[in-house]
Amino acid sequence: MVTVNEKEKVFHLNNGRISYLFYVMESGQLGHLYFGKALNPEGNYLHMVEKAHRPMSVCIREGDLYTSYEHLRQEYPCYGTSDYRYPALEIQGSDGSRICKPEYQGYEVIKGKKPLEGLPATYVEREEEAETLEIYLKDALRGLEVVLSYTIFRDVDGIARSARFANRGQEGFFINRVMSMSVDLPDADFQSVQLSGSWSRERYVKVRDLDPGITAVSSMRGNSSHQHNPFLALKRKNATEQSGQVYGFSLVYSGNFLAQAEVDNYQVLRVMLGINPFGFQWKLEPGESFVAPEAVMVYSEEGLNGMSRQFHRLYRNRLARGYWRDKERPVLINNWEATQFAYVEDDLVTFATKAKECGVELFVLDDGWFGARNNDKCGLGDWKANRDKLPGGIEGLSAKIEALGMKFGLWFEPEMVNKDSDFFRSHPDYIIETPGRSASHGRNQFVLDFTRKEVVDAIYGQMHDLLSNAKISYIKWDMNRSISECYSTAYPADRQGEIFHRYILGVYDLHERLIREFPELLIESCSSGGGRFDAGMLYYAPQGWVSDDSDAIERAKIQYGTSLVYPLSCMGAHVSACPNEQVGRTTPIITRGNVAFTGAFGYELDLNKLSEAEIGMVKEQIQFYKENRSLIAKGDFYRLLSPFEGNFAAWEIADEKGSRALVTVTRILSEINGPFRRLPLRGLRRDQKYHVESRYLSYDAYGDELMQFGMMMEDKSCGQVIDGSGGCQDFLSILYEVTSI
Ligand code: GLA
Repeated sequence: MVTVNEKEKVFHLNNGRISYLFYVMESGQLGHLYFGKALNPEGNYLHMVEKAHRPMSVCIREGDLYTSYEHLRQEYPCYGTSDYRYPALEIQGSDGSRICKPEYQGYEVIKGKKPLEGLPATYVEREEEAETLEIYLKDALRGLEVVLSYTIFRDVDGIARSARFANRGQEGFFINRVMSMSVDLPDADFQSVQLSGSWSRERYVKVRDLDPGITAVSSMRGNSSHQHNPFLALKRKNATEQSGQVYGFSLVYSGNFLAQAEVDNYQVLRVMLGINPFGFQWKLEPGESFVAPEAVMVYSEEGLNGMSRQFHRLYRNRLARGYWRDKERPVLINNWEATQFAYVEDDLVTFATKAKECGVELFVLDDGWFGARNNDKCGLGDWKANRDKLPGGIEGLSAKIEALGMKFGLWFEPEMVNKDSDFFRSHPDYIIETPGRSASHGRNQFVLDFTRKEVVDAIYGQMHDLLSNAKISYIKWDMNRSISECYSTAYPADRQGEIFHRYILGVYDLHERLIREFPELLIESCSSGGGRFDAGMLYYAPQGWVSDDSDAIERAKIQYGTSLVYPLSCMGAHVSACPNEQVGRTTPIITRGNVAFTGAFGYELDLNKLSEAEIGMVKEQIQFYKENRSLIAKGDFYRLLSPFEGNFAAWEIADEKGSRALVTVTRILSEINGPFRRLPLRGLRRDQKYHVESRYLSYDAYGDELMQFGMMMEDKSCGQVIDGSGGCQDFLSILYEVTSI
């Protein structure tokens, strides 16, 4: 998969479907050649280097007017030479100089892929699944060694990149800016696609035209954030969900990030992804090293859906890991929206008993079970059961739940503390704050200094005790505020730029220790819903709570956007009560079920409060999900109609062989006397005959018809409702089962 032209020093990563090429310039810097559909490995591609005598360029060699970094496409641009675009790397030496010029030293091709120390990363299970090219560079003046790592996967149209740095010199220096990847594409005729929003409306799809200058999304909140996701796609203007060229870039990281596209004066497009340089500075003393997080780049000629399927395949199978990766996820019920903090043990047992009767497999006890936690002003940090609410402790309650034949799960917010807690009273110095300044709170809570091992140890100790003494099969790991007034008293002045990154390393470390000690524990990550829904967390927690907004219509949008990068297997999606707690909307329970089926399914309400008819529906939903959850988690996902563009959200999940598909169509507002509609399906076999079945419709058709003419969408709004069977109402969703016969 990796070909090296030793003479020309050209490196070609090629898996038969995509190619990525770069070369070593005469100066020893790396130049970028090509990223896209596979090219012949025999070809010589150095003529792709575009050089010109550009008036007024600043050139790197005396007497040579053709070679300026300003107009050469680069592979990993470093600050301080004649490239005036943003660099991937900026170093600051003790002499104040910020120039660095790492030059090529050699390379190595490695079978498979190495892990990234202390950081989440994609992996392989067998060597033949991937090949890794490592490029060694050195800036002799600083003693800086750089290793750029490129892994090409056999079965995914993507490349994972990361970079390592070591100080082999005599003096320390600072890394001021370090990107995980950079690529200079030869033209800028693209639109950028980002996932942006806010609390309870995370990951809306936003498309922007690229113009000269910078288009960027970032976070400097300490978490990847509700506001922007560590992801950026570039699509050709005519690319759609189903067709056209798309590049996708995703960072496997949960902290401050920057994803940036820069169009220069020659229409060259530089894309980079890495730790947000704002607020970042890492001191590298002689002998020390630094590892930048992994970035994944995928290429698709099948539009945004094609890009998503590559990310899904990689992230579901080779980023998520452990006991739960391939296992069917339990149908869960969570008590938060039903009870908030107000419950005692008996209420919970009654709540769980009804859930068991409906077929729920896991009961999750949310916030409020510990310390003096009767509201959000106190208790965080005291991870011991509140005996007034739970007289038998967590051990007693979990035993009762297990006796019902269900598994038991528990909510934690390990990184946070309330000042009104025994933990804070014993360790007032454990929080992140800047001496002499007031510390802002978020939801009355403060952030524990996870850069410090003793702080992580203290929380690990408490969690370990609970997990060892009670039967706990699942934890919901919440994180309900961003970091402010960032400072750690444990580090000297010249290392304060490291705190945001060290914090995330502490979070990863706690995850890793828990996973190692309790490998069968299912962890669902959460951050006020989707404030840290990123590829980094997926390495530790195979599922995440997508959003605190559980309204089905809002969720149709949020899950649609989330699916651009993240597989359905990792999207926690629940049916909640109506009117919906967040938006006050009432939607049919069918719609709430259909939307929540597109993920790790569950309920977020008190089933004792539903009518007989609704309970019947809940039982049907759970039965349906259990029968189909393997297809939902592992099938190919196709977005068909975007709720960001019209009155419908539609998607399809088809198994790999194209023998069965589930199609969900959600109409947002009802219409009268509208058109007949057909929905072209994907991923079926052309010559295969299928049976299409839904609540209102049943017919047989061949795959070619379903994909070309489209699946008939029955829609009562096409005419008057004369049969009294309903179907003409707002927020109606219909699920179609398409099964080969
Ligand atoms: C956050 C989570 C919710 C719930 C509450 C509990 O907001 O996103 O799901 O767990 O905290 O306080």
